[in-house]
Amino acid sequence: MAAESRAMGAEPVRGWPGRDNGAMSPNADAVRRAAELRDQLNHHAHRYYVLDAPEIPDAEYDRLFQQLQALEAAHPELLTPDSPTQRVIGAVLDGLTPVRHAVPMLSITTETDTTEGGAIAFDARVRRELGLNESDPPVEYAAELKFDGLAMNLRYEQGVLVQAATRGDGETGEDVTQNVRTIGQIPLKLIGEAPPVLEVRGEVYMRRDDFERLNERQRERGEKTFVNPRNTAAGAIRQLDPALVRQRPLCFYAYGLGEVQGWDVPATHSGLLNALAAFGLPVNDDCAVVQGPAGLVQFHQAIAARRDALPFDIDGVVYKVNSRELQQALGFKTREPRWAVAHKYPAQEQVTTLLAIDIQVGRTGKLTPVARLDPVFVGGTTVSNATLHNLFEMRRKGVRVGDRVIVRRAGDVIPEVVGRVPGERSSYVPNFRMPRNCPVCGSAAERERGGMDYRCTGGVFCPAQRKQALLHFAGRRAMDIEGLGDKLVDQLVDAGIVQSLPGLYKLGVAKLAALDRMAEKSAQNIVDALEKSKTPTLARFLFSLGIRQVGETTAKDLARHFGTLEALMNASVEQLLEVPDVGPIVAASIHTFFAQPHNREVVEQLLAAGVTPKESAGEANDQPRPLLGKTLVLTGTLPTLSRDEAKELIEAAGGKVSGSVSKRTSYVISGEEAGSKLDKARELGVPVLDEAGLRLLLAPQD
Ligand code: IVH
Repeated sequence: MAAESRAMGAEPVRGWPGRDNGAMSPNADAVRRAAELRDQLNHHAHRYYVLDAPEIPDAEYDRLFQQLQALEAAHPELLTPDSPTQRVIGAVLDGLTPVRHAVPMLSITTETDTTEGGAIAFDARVRRELGLNESDPPVEYAAELKFDGLAMNLRYEQGVLVQAATRGDGETGEDVTQNVRTIGQIPLKLIGEAPPVLEVRGEVYMRRDDFERLNERQRERGEKTFVNPRNTAAGAIRQLDPALVRQRPLCFYAYGLGEVQGWDVPATHSGLLNALAAFGLPVNDDCAVVQGPAGLVQFHQAIAARRDALPFDIDGVVYKVNSRELQQALGFKTREPRWAVAHKYPAQEQVTTLLAIDIQVGRTGKLTPVARLDPVFVGGTTVSNATLHNLFEMRRKGVRVGDRVIVRRAGDVIPEVVGRVPGERSSYVPNFRMPRNCPVCGSAAERERGGMDYRCTGGVFCPAQRKQALLHFAGRRAMDIEGLGDKLVDQLVDAGIVQSLPGLYKLGVAKLAALDRMAEKSAQNIVDALEKSKTPTLARFLFSLGIRQVGETTAKDLARHFGTLEALMNASVEQLLEVPDVGPIVAASIHTFFAQPHNREVVEQLLAAGVTPKESAGEANDQPRPLLGKTLVLTGTLPTLSRDEAKELIEAAGGKVSGSVSKRTSYVISGEEAGSKLDKARELGVPVLDEAGLRLLLAPQD
């Protein structure tokens, strides 16, 4: 919401008012105040969008913003193109104007060998071109992510953003300045002493969560969904109406230069990135300076392991010879520099055949059409099932059994069918119909008025819903009952052994060992795991109940706010609304859940079975929060704590855990086989602690 309010708020203004447009000349006070407000707003926008560390509440930002707007409305001649009020300019264009690039926007050689061989081959080429022998030291490289968006040239004159242009054919792009102005992360004015001309190159992209949210909204409205974040970003940036662009949250990372006048370009690429960050431009933290082919290989592997966890799509990594002098020595071959290469990862979209469409019944009874696919390697794993979301979306995409379809798997998101490959169908295939009854329990399937989803009305009587509820309860992020996977849950529910969540805790070794393919040892392990699960944090316990609208984050917020299960169970809708980030829909869902006697009974039976949520992490009981306001980064393997355990302890102490190291990181907690984050911490002078150090932070002894 805040992001939106920062990008919006300005009324359309067409063109810049000229100097002598007849308005009364503003007094010196107004001139000074406008400049002061602009500086303040630019500073806070940088803190908010680029550093992710706001200093003032959103309401205060909005207040300053409105002051400036009022001042500019009274004195239009005070308006400048770098004014924060000018992030939204309402003019709808007839078309985009071509822009000839002062320095061509080159492409980059792609290394398609996705194994380590790709990195080794690039280093060998560089060494050969530079005439280096085996005895010469390794070449130093800057390694960074290859963002999957679209390239953009931002032209700053005297530090003010004057033009943004797409790459186009490399020689001539299109002027998209007014759309780029809506991207909060892109400074309209650079910080500090800016050169007369500085063209910054980088990638405009859309985060995966923003993309998912956008599609979720489209789905709810029954509108067309977007295929992937890259196409969505590219489409948005070329929109003629900036008001539409504003509804597509875009981001930016800088990674290079275009034309430069009057500036001593740093001697290394890594130095350049630091200088760009100092100007207030967003630079990605996951970059590293590495030595020789071994360093490249290590970077490629480290990022591959984290690819799914990144908040945006990447299609590979980019290696650049770090020294500008060596870059110049290597030069270019026609359209590509010899000093850089893109080293790819397996593609996140592939084409395969849709073999059948099944219906899956979820925890809340939702019936989801699922595509059974000819297995295909996509985004690093083999995928044979993918979601088709709902009937209406499927119809819009026009997919039918037998079609060649495009499957996308990116990050932790469930693989999905994003469309069909146009082509003739060899025979008539009828359109898919939703069943009238739940395919599992036979209860009527109904669609909520105006909704897109069909649901089984069987509730807890539907074995499929029960199974999903049990699986969710036992999940790693919920009660974490090891060994309780889908095969076992199927057996337990199908044989009528477990009917509800509390029933799990009545399982004994004998009952389990009597099941098919269950050895006594495994049965004992499950009983042990059940025992071990009995002391979850309150947040995990709440999450595990599967209350609609209550995900992990909301569960944590609720636990922190109420402190005890009892307080939450008895909270009114008004009290629930006091929890930060809980809105009317979530509050109503929680209230309805606990108002139902059978849900209360489940909770009581769980407590009676010995489940005791740890009610200590709440604000309500004044637990000390020594890490409040601190951001920590975990790297490597800690001797006793798992990643999740360490994260939980840090969050309970009020701290945040981030995935990457920056100047804003308070501490890096490092274990065995720590990766590039440790190097980065050392480079930036961020304190590095081991597990013992973390424990001291958590429980400071005074
Ligand atoms: S450098 C002269 N660095 O990949 C080198 N490009 O074909 C110019 N890209 O059009 C490119 N991440 O859109 C560079 N870290 C990165 C990049 C990157 C993504 C894109 C860019 C360019 C294409 C290269």
